[in-house]
Formats: sequence, structure tokens, C-alpha cells
Amino acid sequence: MQIKRNVPLNSGSTTTDTEKMAQVVPDICPREKEFVSMMKKIPLATPTMHTEEQQYVQKAFETNWISPLEPNVDEFEDTVAAYVGASSSAALSSGTAALHLSVILAGVKENDIVFVPSLTFAASVNPIRYEYATPVFIDSERDTWNIDAAALRKAFEKYPHPKAVMAVHLYGTSANMDEICALCKEHDVPLIEDAAESLGTTYKGKMTGTFGDYGIYSFNGNKIITTSGGGILVAKQEKNVDKARFLSRQARDPARHYQHSTIGYNYRMSNVVAGIGCGQMQHIEEHIQKKHEIYQAYKEAFSDIEEIEMNPLNREAFDNNWLSCMTISQDSSVTPTQVMDALKVEGIETRPIWKPMHLQPIFEAYDFIQIEDGISVSEDIFHRGLCLPSDIKNTKEDMERIIKIVRRQFRQQ
Ligand SMILES: Cc1ncc(COP(=O)(O)O)c(C=O)c1O
Repeated sequence: MQIKRNVPLNSGSTTTDTEKMAQVVPDICPREKEFVSMMKKIPLATPTMHTEEQQYVQKAFETNWISPLEPNVDEFEDTVAAYVGASSSAALSSGTAALHLSVILAGVKENDIVFVPSLTFAASVNPIRYEYATPVFIDSERDTWNIDAAALRKAFEKYPHPKAVMAVHLYGTSANMDEICALCKEHDVPLIEDAAESLGTTYKGKMTGTFGDYGIYSFNGNKIITTSGGGILVAKQEKNVDKARFLSRQARDPARHYQHSTIGYNYRMSNVVAGIGCGQMQHIEEHIQKKHEIYQAYKEAFSDIEEIEMNPLNREAFDNNWLSCMTISQDSSVTPTQVMDALKVEGIETRPIWKPMHLQPIFEAYDFIQIEDGISVSEDIFHRGLCLPSDIKNTKEDMERIIKIVRRQFRQQ
């Protein structure tokens, strides 16, 4: 699939009720219009559908190709693989399922150690525990908020033989892959890339998700494109994609009768769901372009407020800006909770930064490696940050409304 960048967004048939109201009543007076816009709920990030998704789904119904292993699945796998520059891919029921199969294929077993960033969603870590392995949490770097190569090096000194390393590209910002890949190569350890949030992000011109031995993408409801729920696995070696497919279909041996020589999973993506993905893939570059515009709008609007800093972009990357986030300086009298509450009362959805895994009750017994004792970058980002509304259907007025409320917290109009 050809990557065309900087295409203007066609937000498709995604008009909200309040927008419909404004269209139905075009002569609505300016004050009423302002009221309609003020009443409008603004979500964090919701699916943006176009017309093609429905055509694919319709075809699935017409042909009764409803179950997995039908043409939409093949097309979706081929399209995503071509887009990211992988030789093939396996479409699965979720990003978490794709991570679980990656962990299994990397050979992770009970009590093995896996290095994983602390600042991530629990879905990165749970598959490690599904296999009864031991996560060791690595702190973040300030430059990208992702796994800190210096802390990773320190982890290798303490635990010289981890079974795998997982890197995550948080909020669509690429991790510094040169250092991470070099460390994995030096120690001969497989790398799993959790690119759930970063489909379309390139680091030095190469798609995130394709640096590691295994890479995964998520298509859940709030991702850059969605299938309503789903994931895809890519792998450096094509035979590992085949193995993932095999495991995801209950690991059925090639025998006439039902025969199984290994434990399998029901992790395949359905043909209906894949149809949504085929339609969405036709619009991924528009989605990314709009996400950039949202990030730039916030960055510009807050540029005169010293206490606000936007989430970092990787200087070596083209990031997809999946979610725009901000941090508030330590010495500010304004807190992230205050900003989130001010937006919430106006019906505007935000989200805290992922709470680091080493602080989670379920994971707090596991080791956490930071460069300097007592200074946790991931904790600092968590305490000072929040995710701003990043829905690509936000109008100019929506953005102005959000910005105005945030600015007001800092006594700026
Ligand atoms: C960083 C990260 N990893 C993994 C996942 C899991 O993806 P899914 O929700 O498709 O299982 C998500 C998304 O929810 C995520 O944000």
C-alpha cells in the first residue's frame, strides 16, 4: 500500500447529534449556535467511520462470509503488512492476543524475566504473566516517555539473561529504536514491539512495529484506526507469523481429524471485523494528518503558558500523534486533576497518563529499574500529565472550547 501523507481529512459520515441539529436548523441564531456547541460532549477519541467499512461488512453479510478465514481477513492482513513494510501479518482478536502470542513465540516460560517499560498500559504486561513469567519494569526517558536505553542497560547488568525485551511506543511517539535494538542484539535477546498505539509512526523512515522480532498493533475503539476490536501481529521471520496463525486457530494439526499437539487459542479476527479494518485502512493517512493538526493546535495555543509542556515527539521519527498529552510544571499551582475536572464539568473527556506498572497493586512486587535511585521519570510524568481530547472529528469550535477552558485554569484567556 502506497503511503500518501498530508492528505486533508474527510471525516465521513460521522456527524454527531448536535452537529446534525445545527445542520437541520441552518438559520439558528448565533447565540443558539453557541449554546449547541457549548452543550456538545467532546470525547477523548472515538471511531471515525467512512463509507467503505460498511461496504465491506455488507459484502460479508451478502456472501455469508461471517466467520474468520474469509476474504476480508486476507485483504486486511495484506494491506496492513504492505503498509508497514512487513512480508505478512496475522489478524487477531485483539492487540493483547497479539502480544500474548508474541510472548509465547519468543519462548517466554514460567519464571523467565522479561524487560518491559513501566509507563504503559497493563495490556503490555498481562501477557507476560499469562505465561507465569516475571516482568522487570524499566523507567522512561524524558525525551520520548518510552523505555530508557540507559535504564535498560542497567537492567541487563542486574539480570544478564532476560528471555525477551518489550518496547512500547506510547501515545504514538516512537521509542529510540537504535539504542534498544543494539542492546537486544548485543545480548542476543528477542525484541517484542508493542506498537498498539503507533500504527503509522516511522522511526528513521521505518514503521514502528517492524524493528523487533515481533510487532503488534491494536485496532480497539479509540486507536488511530479501529475494527471495533482487534489486533495484528507481524514478525521478522515469516514462519513466526504462520506459527501465530496456527496457535490462534486452536493449534490444529494438519490431520483429517481434530488433532492437537500443542495448546492453542481462539484468537482469530472475524471476517466482519476485518471488513471494517479494510475500509479504515483506506483512511489511515487522513487520520494521522488530523491527529497532527490537533497536536499542533494545542502546542500553539499553550505556547505562551510556561507551566504547560506537550508530550514529546521523537526527533528521529514521524509520530502519529495518537493522543495529545500535556504535563504541568512541578512549581505550578494548577494540577492535572484540576484541569481534568474543569473539562469534565463541561462534558469534555480527558484521561490521566497511564499509571506506571511498578505502582500497580498487582505488579508492585516486581523489580523496577531506574537510572538514579529515588528519581522515577515515569512516576513524574504520571503525576504531572494528562491526555487531552484527540478525537479527529473535533471541529475548530470544539478545539477552541477545550483550549479556552484549559487556559482559564492558568488564568489565561
Ligand atoms: C500500549 C498498549 N498495549 C496493548 C494494548 C492492547 O490492545 P487491545 O486493546 O487491542 O487488546 C493497548 C490498547 O488497549 C495499548 O494501548
